[in-house]
Amino acid sequence: MKKIGILTSGGDCQGLNAAIRGVAKSLYGYYKDSEIQIYGIRDGYKGLIYGDYHTMEAKDFSGILNTGGTILGTSRQPFKSMRIIDENSVDKVKAMKENYKKIGLDCLVILGGNGTQKTANLLSQEGLNVVSLPKTIDNDLWGTDMTFGFQSAVRIATDVIDCIHTTATSHGRVFIVEVMGHKVGWLTLYAGIAGGADVILLPEMPYDINAIVKKIEDRTKQGKNFSILAVAEGAVSKELAQLPKKKKKEALANLAYPSISYEIAKQIEDSTGQETRVTVPGHIQRGGSPCAYDRVLSTRFGAAAAKLIFEERYGNMVAIKNEKIVAVPLQEIAGKLKAVPVDCEVINAAKETGISFGDK
Ligand code: F6P
Repeated sequence: MKKIGILTSGGDCQGLNAAIRGVAKSLYGYYKDSEIQIYGIRDGYKGLIYGDYHTMEAKDFSGILNTGGTILGTSRQPFKSMRIIDENSVDKVKAMKENYKKIGLDCLVILGGNGTQKTANLLSQEGLNVVSLPKTIDNDLWGTDMTFGFQSAVRIATDVIDCIHTTATSHGRVFIVEVMGHKVGWLTLYAGIAGGADVILLPEMPYDINAIVKKIEDRTKQGKNFSILAVAEGAVSKELAQLPKKKKKEALANLAYPSISYEIAKQIEDSTGQETRVTVPGHIQRGGSPCAYDRVLSTRFGAAAAKLIFEERYGNMVAIKNEKIVAVPLQEIAGKLKAVPVDCEVINAAKETGISFGDK
């Protein structure tokens, strides 16, 4: 009897259920029903730490291809505190290893983003059989060209920019749409281009407020009574970017505004006199059903993870590289961030069509 545990960890996103389904349905293809038992582990690593798990059957994986969120629940268990004894005096790593053994697992399937993959690598190094899948709307996981969740979030953020266009033109206003993405700008870059933003600000390209103001004023001179900015939640000014890491963190924590977008809005209003509003779609970007692309990608990742389990190729994350599904060793990807390369073709194409990145 093969015993496989599945957990989803970190922020939820579209395509998690499709990926869980992909893993399970493929496993039922490799093994007879009587040869395999799948265990659902609740709320990510928390369920493995505290022994919160349940057996699952084939029917549990039906009807979930197009549903949002995760049927297993999720939670954030920061990697940096994994080695720290928690408030209930629990040694988390020890507890996870004990529960893995207690259930009698042959492999643990882990769906998650950056922090989750670091812990997956830690568990693999601690001797557990682990296979992981790359999940996040941020698309910031090293080792894969694409994560599931990203394209669905691009669709939502693009819809937001589309909707803002009508109000921006009707009222003749400047609008900032603040897009998620944590420390990287993939989501903002793609949604900004797809939504026709005039200015796109990414964490990878620190901005000069004067360059942003100039772009807006140039548009006004051309008779355009509105401007739209797609601003990554992690965008930074050139001044801030120059500060040492600790000072930069302090400055951001002490911002006089709810987020950087509001500071930029105030600066634009003061400099141009144009009414400027901020829209923050926030967690909506992680919500709702996965787009067709993510349903396909999650299914491909799920099937690939099941194959790795069948072949006992543990310690790997499934990934997509140049349109091919591959396995990447966890130790190669753990702790690495995939930022937007500032000289990439997508950015150059955007610049050629007149989009400003506020950098000059
Ligand atoms: O990693 C996904 C993400 O949505 C980021 O884009 C964002 O910075 C963060 O999670 C928000 O986290 P939380 O859901 O814990 O507020």
